[in-house]
Amino acid sequence: MGTKHELLAYLKEHQGDWISGEALSKRLGVSRAAVWKQVSKLRDAGYVIRSSPKRGYIFSRAPEMLLPAEIRDGIDTEVFGRKEIAYFSELDSTNRKAKELAVEGAPEGTLVVAEQQTKGRGRLRRNWHSPFQEGIYASLILRPKLPPAEAPKITLATGVSVAETLLAITPVKPAIKWPNDILVNGRKICGILTETSTEMDAIDFVVVGVGINVNNRKFPDDLREIATSVYLETGRTFDRVTLMQEFLRQFERSYSLFLRSGFESIGKRWRELAMLLGKEVTVRMIDRTCRGRVMELDRDGALLIKSENGELERIYSGDIQVH
Ligand code: BTN
Repeated sequence: MGTKHELLAYLKEHQGDWISGEALSKRLGVSRAAVWKQVSKLRDAGYVIRSSPKRGYIFSRAPEMLLPAEIRDGIDTEVFGRKEIAYFSELDSTNRKAKELAVEGAPEGTLVVAEQQTKGRGRLRRNWHSPFQEGIYASLILRPKLPPAEAPKITLATGVSVAETLLAITPVKPAIKWPNDILVNGRKICGILTETSTEMDAIDFVVVGVGINVNNRKFPDDLREIATSVYLETGRTFDRVTLMQEFLRQFERSYSLFLRSGFESIGKRWRELAMLLGKEVTVRMIDRTCRGRVMELDRDGALLIKSENGELERIYSGDIQVH
């Protein structure tokens, strides 16, 4: 750990206490001038650290940023959030960057986060609205030893994890709209974009991109009726680092459960959180449209729809409109 990180860790550990420059310099094995220099660097990075000539230094608060050091601080996962975290104040798309890193060989658990995306990507070539420091824009690299057909289930596991995260940290009541939208009161609060690269009959890597609308106070006109944020639902702002950490914890849990015990181990929770079962829907697929009632999520993660002519259709991907 460098002096800056050690200093930060020590100040945070003693949050609420003043610590003299002398004590810090002894503890870190550097001069008092060097302590001052590192405090200035932390302040430049957005940390609020108060100082007084008589009392020394006191940690006040971390910046409103998704800084790697903050995401790692106190996280109790085994892999997610513990590997490299590539942090960007601004980026075109965290999914694009994560794919680039994965092609270069980045290991499972590598995380890409951005405070803002200029070309945030959604499904079906849509854009993802990604204003500075309002939401979470993050992509995680996975390297599951699975056949490619299993990849869509990772999207379903991600949906469960985002819903659990919102339930754990905020008072909102999320519902999963198959396959990968999280809605609150009928409006979208989170989107998931899973991109898979395959080699022969195996998955090479999967990039799971998650966009959560956290502290957005308003949306552009075209999204106003269909999007929402945790802030708009509760009237309160939420700490994005806490949400990010909880998501990594939840997702590591569901992902390893899925790898160990198969999709059914999370399928039950998915069904409890899903809002489509029993609903009349129209599904738009690449080559056709199907209208009918959603009957079940099957063991493969496909949606079973009883179409208007009474036939059961298995849908693996599509865009759903609820009637
Ligand atoms: C959708 O609902 O259409 C999926 C939206 C996914 C958005 C996230 S934000 C982080 C990651 N990077 C991207 O470019 N997209 C995903």
